[in-house]
Amino acid sequence: MSDTEQKIIIAVDGFSSCGKSTFAKAIARRLGYIFIDTGAMYRAVTLYALEHGAIRSGIVDEEAVVRLLDQIAITFRFNPDRGASDIYVNGDLAEGKIRTIEVSNCVSRVSAIPEVRSKLVAMQQEMGRRKGVVMDGRDIGTVVFPHAEMKLFMTADPHVRALRRYDELRAKGDDVSLEQIEENVRSRDKADMSRAVSPLRQADDAIVLDNSHMTVDEQMEWFMEQLRRLRAAKQ
Ligand code: DC
Repeated sequence: MSDTEQKIIIAVDGFSSCGKSTFAKAIARRLGYIFIDTGAMYRAVTLYALEHGAIRSGIVDEEAVVRLLDQIAITFRFNPDRGASDIYVNGDLAEGKIRTIEVSNCVSRVSAIPEVRSKLVAMQQEMGRRKGVVMDGRDIGTVVFPHAEMKLFMTADPHVRALRRYDELRAKGDDVSLEQIEENVRSRDKADMSRAVSPLRQADDAIVLDNSHMTVDEQMEWFMEQLRRLRAAKQ
């Protein structure tokens, strides 16, 4: 893409474990854009709540989570080894700690709290103010940037998604079962779509990508074609 092309906002929404982050990261690298993983931000709040007693035995005390919000400063720092940004909570690296099954099991409930959403949405809007960002999440094209120039909605078969996350966690040495993961994927789909505030839904003007049987390279090819069409339609 030439440097003279105007920078845009690319919103990538969709179901959990669809490879949104991998795809969004690849797009950002290709275009020289900033990649922002908003799921990591909801996970970071969940981690903080777990570590500070606002979630006990899997029960989320919503009022306690809201009381903690002012103490949580979330920042991203580029990590050249990973070629992506790491998330920090109050200056502490949280990247490795936010993707455990414990956090995954509670994050849907934490992300349904209106005060949590309004704080994180405001941060995300600020991060995209200068455009040139690829942001992945659930409500980017509907709530955070309803006027994003390009909106993608990703989906994949729940079993394929569970297998992907299972492989990821096992590779890290987590002792999880495929059944446990598939149950988590399905229950998060349900929770994400049925919550009262900003439920997961496809924006009317989003382009759908079902990547159940696509490689990252194939997805990239598909994306570049969509981008070419968008640029051509604007001329
Ligand atoms: O993308 P992920 O699986 O890391 O997201 C973690 C959780 O955060 C997921 O259950 C839904 C929630 N989330 C959200 O509600 N809104 C976003 N923009 C991003 C994630």
